Amino acid sequence: MTYNGRHRLPARLARSLVFAAALVWLSGCSGPGAAEAPASPAASAEPAVQAELPSLAAAYAYYFPIGAAIEPDQTEGPSAELLKQQVNWLVAENAMKPDALAPAEGSFTWERADRIVAFAKENGMELRFHTLVWHNQTPEWFFRDEAGGDMAEETDPAKRQANKKLLLERLDRYVTAVVSRYKEDITSWDVVNEVIEPGDPEGMRASNWYKITGTGFIETAFKAARKAGGPELKLYINDYGTDNPEKRDRLYELVKELLEKGVPIDGVGHQTHINLEYPSVESIIESMDKFHALGLDNQITELDMSLYVYNDLSDVGAEVPADILQRQAERYGELFAALRVNKELLSGVMFWGIADNHTWLSTFPVVRTEAPLLFDKQLLAKPAFRAVTDF
Ligand code: GLA
Repeated sequence: MTYNGRHRLPARLARSLVFAAALVWLSGCSGPGAAEAPASPAASAEPAVQAELPSLAAAYAYYFPIGAAIEPDQTEGPSAELLKQQVNWLVAENAMKPDALAPAEGSFTWERADRIVAFAKENGMELRFHTLVWHNQTPEWFFRDEAGGDMAEETDPAKRQANKKLLLERLDRYVTAVVSRYKEDITSWDVVNEVIEPGDPEGMRASNWYKITGTGFIETAFKAARKAGGPELKLYINDYGTDNPEKRDRLYELVKELLEKGVPIDGVGHQTHINLEYPSVESIIESMDKFHALGLDNQITELDMSLYVYNDLSDVGAEVPADILQRQAERYGELFAALRVNKELLSGVMFWGIADNHTWLSTFPVVRTEAPLLFDKQLLAKPAFRAVTDF
């Protein structure tokens, strides 16, 4: 995912964020600089899980599984304890992406992915797979021709044809190997990730995959996954910004076309990297409704809620102001209330992380304070956690 929304910060919120940032900065100026200040006991203490908390998974048992993305090292220590207390579903944040599994053609590195699978099994949790095909975090060897040249740059039509064939064969072998290894352990699979891009020709992301094979890579990947995994596997097309009508409708058109051709797609994965203001909860539900009407399942696959809207590069400062945490709680509460009411539209909600001590957003699009999840950096429940579990 490369952005969180297409909307500008409303002036009122912008002013309060600037004001909050200024306050934090001023408080920093009046005392010793942060660098010299002794670490507060809270900051230096090893985070510990609160014993008496309700469990998200239990609270939502009637509705859908609740999950979190994790790295292999989070299968130990306090994060592991929090995961065990709170979720019944996991996905590898990075360990099952193509660059992690197959650094060279025909050679696989399963160890990190296996650790996550083992942890899930030991703790009775389900797993999602993310992701068989993507344009990022994919090793170069896929796209090199027999002579080592860049397939996407080839202009000779006969060679382009041969390259397409070779790439689809490689993809078929890759998908078959990975699905065969994990088909007993993992039910829901992201087969392709982020293939729609309304700004690119035909609304299809101009990735190496698309430049070399057209939509052939999507067909090959889904068919190979079904063939290797059997009818029980649930196969998803995953993307961000699926609430945006232009993107949603292009995705809908593609999926409909592929289904008509017999491509085995079971559902749409909605990443749902949202922020404090956008998109509206209605637009998230509306999109799931549209795919549901096509006979498809929906999953929320990468949920988090940034404190900042798209294009806002400000920083709230070291401590997130209470009013922002409150706003986040209200919005998380509103989202989950709508998901409960519409539970027949979806079969799971996966967070992209478990606590604010580990989130991709603290370095993207700039390094700054972020707090997009339900637990804070010390693994303590935030107001948003209460908003989601008190119902
Ligand atoms: C996208 C991908 C994820 C992850 C996030 C950032 O949403 O689908 O795998 O890389 O970006 O963490």
